[in-house]
Amino acid sequence: MDTLVSPIAEVVRAGLSARKKTLPPWLFYDAAGSALFEQITSLPEYYLSTMERELLMNHASAVMDRCADSRNLDIYELGAGSARKTVHLLRAALARSGATQYHPMDISLDAMEGAVRHLALELPALPVRPEVTDFTRAVPAPGSRFADGRKLMLWLGSSAGNYEPAEAVRILRRVTASMNKGDCLLLGMDLAPEEGGKPMRDLMAAYEDAAGVTALFNKNLFVRLNRELGADFDLDSFEHEARWNAAASCIEMHLVSRREQRVRIDALEEKFHFDSGESVHTENSYKLSTERLKSLLCDAGFPLEIVWTDADHWYGLFLGEKS
Ligand SMILES: C[S@@+](CC[C@H](N)C(=O)[O-])C[C@H]1O[C@@H](n2cnc3c(N)ncnc32)[C@H](O)[C@@H]1O
Repeated sequence: MDTLVSPIAEVVRAGLSARKKTLPPWLFYDAAGSALFEQITSLPEYYLSTMERELLMNHASAVMDRCADSRNLDIYELGAGSARKTVHLLRAALARSGATQYHPMDISLDAMEGAVRHLALELPALPVRPEVTDFTRAVPAPGSRFADGRKLMLWLGSSAGNYEPAEAVRILRRVTASMNKGDCLLLGMDLAPEEGGKPMRDLMAAYEDAAGVTALFNKNLFVRLNRELGADFDLDSFEHEARWNAAASCIEMHLVSRREQRVRIDALEEKFHFDSGESVHTENSYKLSTERLKSLLCDAGFPLEIVWTDADHWYGLFLGEKS
């Protein structure tokens, strides 16, 4: 059997060999991808981050009152990234009388290093125990938890929407398996457009921004494959495309080949054929209704306690408590 030079090689081979080519979204997040995502979060079109930040600022104390009150609290976060928005919750957690520890998890080492540096400046009193891990496979590492306290799991940034809902439930059940009755889960989710009449124009613009940062973020996948696997993707011959899949209530991101071409990947010793107009499906962003999110939380074992949304119901923070 061949020895593969990179842990991502087999994933890429399988994705590009499929009848409908696809690559998993976690591949976006190398150092450049994490930095580009951070830029996306400050784009005027990317209302998801702006709204979530505002909701967290307004309701951080209420989240803490509900989840921990004055007890010791371990806060875990899936795909924490830069943790910039989480700071609002963490500040409220530190303002209580109970002690707090923060356990951010992310597949991106660069994102975790950035988060740790930022938190050391913003909240020097907060113990931070980062973990670089793939949460689709791993569960939070045991140890260094408060024996007597509460736990709060965060999944923010509408990132649970990158998974088909049943898969999001499976991930949540696995990563919260050691949580106890009374522990909490806080999901930040972009809502289905029909929920508050969010115009399709605004929804699409969040994934097709005028400055082209999302296109760079999407194409960075091929930049990564060129560098790490010795591929020869010609970036100009692929186009970034966001599509609304109404049946699934999902934004799909694609990289579409502008011409018929073959791409060689040295590490796989293989060439992949692309028809003109053929796409590589790189990400899904499901937009669920409050009702569906309520049942998703229930299926994950955290019946819904409180929802906070903006006045127009574009975005929501969903708090569930383990039953
Ligand atoms: C959409 S970004 C959200 C970042 C941040 N939570 C926010 O709200 O701005 C998704 C984050 O999840 C991380 N991520 C994606 N898939 C992951 C996986 N399978 N395991 C661990 N982290 C993952 C990415 O590196 C990225 O930082």
